[in-house]
Amino acid sequence: MEFEGRDIISIRDFKRDEIDYILEIAEAMEPLAIKGSSMLNGKILATLFFEPSTRTRLSFETAMHKLGGSTIGFAEAEIASVKKGENLVDTIRTVENYADIIALRHPLEGAARLAAECSKVPIINGGSGAEEHPTQALLDLYTIKKEKGKIDGLRIAMLGDLRYGRTVHSLAYALSYYDVELYLVSPESLRMRREVLMVISEKIPVIEESNLEKVMSIVDVLYVTRIQKERFPDPAEYMKVKGSYRVNVEVLCKAKPDLIILHPLPRTDEIPPEVDATPHARYFQQVWNGIVTRMALLALILGAVK
Ligand code: NCD
Repeated sequence: MEFEGRDIISIRDFKRDEIDYILEIAEAMEPLAIKGSSMLNGKILATLFFEPSTRTRLSFETAMHKLGGSTIGFAEAEIASVKKGENLVDTIRTVENYADIIALRHPLEGAARLAAECSKVPIINGGSGAEEHPTQALLDLYTIKKEKGKIDGLRIAMLGDLRYGRTVHSLAYALSYYDVELYLVSPESLRMRREVLMVISEKIPVIEESNLEKVMSIVDVLYVTRIQKERFPDPAEYMKVKGSYRVNVEVLCKAKPDLIILHPLPRTDEIPPEVDATPHARYFQQVWNGIVTRMALLALILGAVK
């Protein structure tokens, strides 16, 4: 298994044994995330975020700092030369001189792939439009494994915006490597992208559903997502589906006692705060798990861990 120098553009760039290995290394990073390490001393990560982000960018930067590396970058296209009309390729050709690795978030699908094609240093896709978010999928898998002790054998539901949500696209691809049953719960107009569905339904049982109550009592993991308002071409369409689902304590009465609820965050109104105190909530643990997962990725790609 070779990770050094690799790009991470799509979760489909990995095989299952590679994903399992990343999750193992992430677990080994837990103590280092607490006490720190000098493994990546002298290395520089650039975070180029052309779209807003709190978690993904800070999580990458935290992961780099915990391994002794440093970070440069920008958090919004407005302050970058993009505002002056610079194209993505020129930005990458410039930043590759400054950094050993680049984490990129961009509103356009295909942007991360394009960046990887022209970059001398590895590119990590931190979100490419509505397409994919592979590092989120890895931390989601890590969370499931850590909380449930396994991934195989579980019934997993994804709820909300399966059309425009990039995290569910990457996670669905990733879960299709495992022996899971996948329930896709969404309004009709926000169904899982057909191209994702075609690939995953050849490998695992996939059930599409509109009614959350129908699956609530049987699932082990409920992955809730925000309706991606900013990606709707027509605001009227957003108004039709806004607030479609609310995972509140009444809904959770029907859940298995050991159901875990995940959410990539940020949340809007799909999970009210009262749920945070229930034994089901794991979305803030996911944030921590994002740090160790990204530590593992940085260490592997930069060759500090084999
Ligand atoms: C997600 C994203 O940016 O795709 N957030 C994240 O990275 N944790 C989810 C979202 O914005 O809804």
